[in-house]
Amino acid sequence: MKIIMLGAPGAGKGTQAEMISEKYGLPHVSTGDIFRANIKNGTELGKEAKKYMDAGQLVPDELTVKILLDRVAQDDCKNGYVLDGFPRTIPQAEVLDKALTELGDKVDYAINVDVPDENIINRMSGRRACVTCGATYHVVYAPTKVEGICDKCGSELILRDDDKPETVKNRLEVYHKQTQPLIEYYDKKGVLKEVDGTVDMNEVFNSIVSILA
Ligand code: AP5
Ligand code: MG
Repeated sequence: MKIIMLGAPGAGKGTQAEMISEKYGLPHVSTGDIFRANIKNGTELGKEAKKYMDAGQLVPDELTVKILLDRVAQDDCKNGYVLDGFPRTIPQAEVLDKALTELGDKVDYAINVDVPDENIINRMSGRRACVTCGATYHVVYAPTKVEGICDKCGSELILRDDDKPETVKNRLEVYHKQTQPLIEYYDKKGVLKEVDGTVDMNEVFNSIVSILA
């Protein structure tokens, strides 16, 4: 099963992708997490990506597409995956479609987690992220057992550099201009599913499970 998570920054793509990954045994592939791991490790890719991420802009397609295609070519992705944060532009979606078509394959579901802009800023300021394993928490809505420490792997949690309110505003603008058109793109392909992302995260997950069932 190949699933794409669509939605604005902070809509809950990562949260839901992780839950899908656990329930269905699919790898959770997040381009944002791959970039953040590279930034943490000081790689050239990380240095390049950071310039764009800190400004709330998208990392150029050439760079992003390559790392994504390399990642999904790995063995653990053979039976499917959940893509979180990719594609984010029409050209990225076209590259993915082409790569899948060459393998005689296709995207099964594009799930749009719908959350209006007004709810987003509040979610971002309370988010805490684990750069080691990619887990996501929220100080109010999804707290850890020990403050500041990842429940899953014990690493220290960070506040993402791009979660400052000014940067979030830019990210939302970029989302509406460059990423939102993907909703229509996948609708035309007949694989779009919409879920209300404003309700409790377990309720959002129940809606997703009923779509995938
Ligand atoms: P990325 O890491 O993908 O960030 P994003 O799309 O902006 O989305 P977020 O991770 O911020 O939000 P999310 O939807 O995953 O929400 P989450 O589950 O954390 O990308 C970062 C940057 O990398 C981009 O800006 C770009 O520069 C670059 N990049 C990445 N991919 C790229 C690509 N393909 N092309 C080009 N550039 C790329 O939830 C948010 C918070 O809300 C959490 O604290 C969570 O606990 C909480 N929450 C979740 N669900 C609920 C709920 N139902 N109720 C209450 N709280 C909730
Ligand atoms: Mg995320």
